[in-house]
Amino acid sequence: MSLYAIGDLHLHFQSVLKAPGQLHGRVWKNHEEKLRKNCEKLVSAEDTLVLVGDHSWGKNLSECAPDLQYIRDLPGRKILTRGNHDMFWDAKKTGQLNELYQPELTFLQDGYEIYRDYALVATKGFTFEGPFYLDGRGHIVDWDEEAEQHAKKLVEREQQRLRNSFEKAKSDGFDRFIMFLHYPPTNILERRSVFTDLAEEYGAEQVIYAHCHGESRFYDSVHGEYRGRTYHLVSGDFLRWKPLKILE
Ligand SMILES: [Fe+2]
Ligand SMILES: [Fe+2]
Repeated sequence: MSLYAIGDLHLHFQSVLKAPGQLHGRVWKNHEEKLRKNCEKLVSAEDTLVLVGDHSWGKNLSECAPDLQYIRDLPGRKILTRGNHDMFWDAKKTGQLNELYQPELTFLQDGYEIYRDYALVATKGFTFEGPFYLDGRGHIVDWDEEAEQHAKKLVEREQQRLRNSFEKAKSDGFDRFIMFLHYPPTNILERRSVFTDLAEEYGAEQVIYAHCHGESRFYDSVHGEYRGRTYHLVSGDFLRWKPLKILE
């Protein structure tokens, strides 16, 4: 029994690509097929696969239906978390999604899922991504302060959601955690953030995130060991569509 993760599938079996330029390059060619084959090789029926947001370009559930069907057909238990492009998923209506799709798919929001003696906690997260203003040498000289203020509000909301999820799991007796975010835990201006602080406060052993795709974004945030936890970027194009094993 193993726990795997991957994110940013950006499926579009039945929807128009909103930002086709973002998904260019060979790595995106037939990526659904590459992922399906890799999952079939790696993931068994007893395993758990966490899909860390940006599942579909569909604007609503009917546009997403074939994308969710594709995910349903992948092997193992599937847990989905929210990404910024998941328009079909209103956080307040997560219960309805679970009613429709469980037991094949679990939509995780404002709570936790159990894997062995671990609680898996997840939220979309957020981080200020600019706009940044650069000088002629490409160094950041300023940024959009209004956008930064807006980002602070979203970060606060996400921080609270994450804290509530940790607390729920803790009050149910869990003391081992894996933390999932869609957005990276820090932006290019930060060394630490409220999210790295929360991971430390609750002792999350690993922090898994996605969202950074395209080679220029892969190293926007933390990789590997950092202040006592391990951070992994699992966006699909970074992993070349091979889910990352998080735990045995
Ligand atoms: Fe994405
Ligand atoms: Fe994203």
